[in-house]
Amino acid sequence: MYDELRVPPRILLGPGPSIANPRVLKAMTTPMLGYLDADFVDVMDDTVALIRQVYGTQNSLTFPVSGTGTAGMETALTNIIEAGDSVIVGINGYFGGRIAEIAERCGAHVTPVHAEWGNIIEPEQIAEACEKVTPKLVAVVHGETSTGILQPLEQIIDIAREKEALFLADCVTSLGGQPIEFDERGIDIAYSCTQKCLAGPPGLSPISFSDRAVEVIQNRKTKIQSFYLDATLLAEYWLGDSRKYHHTVSMSMIYALREALRVVMEEGVSPRYQRHERNAKALIAGAEAIGLQPAAIENHRAPMLTTLLIPDGIDDVTIRKRLIQDYGIEIGGGLGIFAGKAWRIGLMGDAANEQNVLLVLNAIETLLIEFGYKVDTGTAVSAVAAVYQNS
Ligand SMILES: Cc1ncc(COP(=O)(O)O)c(C=O)c1O
Repeated sequence: MYDELRVPPRILLGPGPSIANPRVLKAMTTPMLGYLDADFVDVMDDTVALIRQVYGTQNSLTFPVSGTGTAGMETALTNIIEAGDSVIVGINGYFGGRIAEIAERCGAHVTPVHAEWGNIIEPEQIAEACEKVTPKLVAVVHGETSTGILQPLEQIIDIAREKEALFLADCVTSLGGQPIEFDERGIDIAYSCTQKCLAGPPGLSPISFSDRAVEVIQNRKTKIQSFYLDATLLAEYWLGDSRKYHHTVSMSMIYALREALRVVMEEGVSPRYQRHERNAKALIAGAEAIGLQPAAIENHRAPMLTTLLIPDGIDDVTIRKRLIQDYGIEIGGGLGIFAGKAWRIGLMGDAANEQNVLLVLNAIETLLIEFGYKVDTGTAVSAVAAVYQNS
């Protein structure tokens, strides 16, 4: 016999999943309804309306994709791209690379626009690439979780618009933690996830397509290659007066997302964004006070994910193991070229609070001292306190 499932308590301060809101977990225990039950359709409608609110969009084609952020990425790219299309992808981290990889699998000619990890993609770089190719789509990552960069979007959107290209923003890490302003900024396609700043479990990817993007999908010459992720078929299930079965959605995840979005709207989007900013500022102040340098350039740091360069002589894995063992705290290791070189500390959704900032800094400081790193005990906490007193 196997024992009843029990997992140890964890304070999830990595790149996601973040700590799930208890209201969201409770919503998941709601009984199942049939996938076309009129009462379930009401829940679906609420969920779509709430997704629109948090994205800041009136887009009709808005729904949660079954699957995690990568499913949203695949949905966006599979529906828009046809073989031979030209796509420009900003790559300044791991997830920009994933967009390029999937776009290529869709048959696109990808023009990568590289920037160093920890830097933003400069609009001039996109403009330059647009001189060489005529893109159907320009894609960037809004919150690059591998580096902690929050990519400015406005100028790149203007450039894409000028070239009559669609603009895609990966909002997997940013939705619920920073403004997306989908319509105001003129984004054409964005997708996200449930397990980061929305403080839910992983499992859905809220996606939205502008009318311009819908027109592109409608004018495709070739069939959308994926049945499961075909937005035109999914629209017949998620939207409109007469719903049609497409696949059996996860009721529990939809209950969870609806509740997660309700929590966001109850807090208010602006106070929520400010809370993320204030706590990230405190985290960085504390980290810098003990000599840990952020890997992302100043003024472009994503408040929900801070990357810190690991000091010479300190072993990444040992510290992360001890954080879990001694404190029950999970932080992330580096991805790609940052593997072994940077830690990723997420303050996402519910987890973005003063207690967690103090806890994680205090724990890291204590362990660093134990492993011979020179710092006065309590330095981080004093720097953090100064930030909270002044903001
Ligand atoms: C910016 C970004 N895009 C895409 C993904 C992929 O999302 P998932 O792991 O939920 O499939 C992630 C995951 O961390 C991410 O941070």
